[in-house]
Amino acid sequence: MTPAAAGLIINRFPTRLPPPMPELQYIAYTSTASRPIVDADLRYLLADARHFNAGVDLTGILLFNGLAFFQYLEGTPKACAAVMARIRSSSLHHSIYELSCDAVDGRRFGDWRMGCTWVDDEARWLALHDPSLWTTRVDNPAPCEGLALLTGFWEASMGVP
Ligand SMILES: Cc1cc2nc3c(=O)[nH]c(=O)nc-3n(C[C@H](O)[C@H](O)[C@H](O)COP(=O)(O)O)c2cc1C
Repeated sequence: MTPAAAGLIINRFPTRLPPPMPELQYIAYTSTASRPIVDADLRYLLADARHFNAGVDLTGILLFNGLAFFQYLEGTPKACAAVMARIRSSSLHHSIYELSCDAVDGRRFGDWRMGCTWVDDEARWLALHDPSLWTTRVDNPAPCEGLALLTGFWEASMGVP
């Protein structure tokens, strides 16, 4: 068999298929504020973000510690891509690092078009940024530790016992 013919067979019968598109995915990223962010900036950002997020059915939460952001977004891959494009082009921040992006079986923050809270607990803030907490085991469907930490933190900030 000629190499060209072998190539044809390989192409026609691929042994590795791309993974199916997940119905829902999340993205967790961090970024640094470009300048001092005042209340009015945050209010404007959130109003604008929530309006857009409602249109693409995206939910999630945004944490801010005065200098940096941590955001968790969840939605269809298409919605996440559209929102990340807006986030990437925002002049309010820079140095955007994606910590994790994966398929999820359901929404963790389904009631929030973009919840927002201030973080002054330095230890928890640092813990949330530990990349090792955001890795998922491919042989274990349990949510990663970072997500559990984030959910617990959010519930505590909302006054959930
Ligand atoms: C930390 C951060 C989070 C954001 N989150 C969202 C979001 O969830 N959805 C969205 O559509 N836009 C989001 N944006 C984009 C803002 O809505 C937009 O940057 C803001 O309205 C200010 O616009 P400007 O950067 O063009 O001045 C985000 C921007 C930043 C800096």
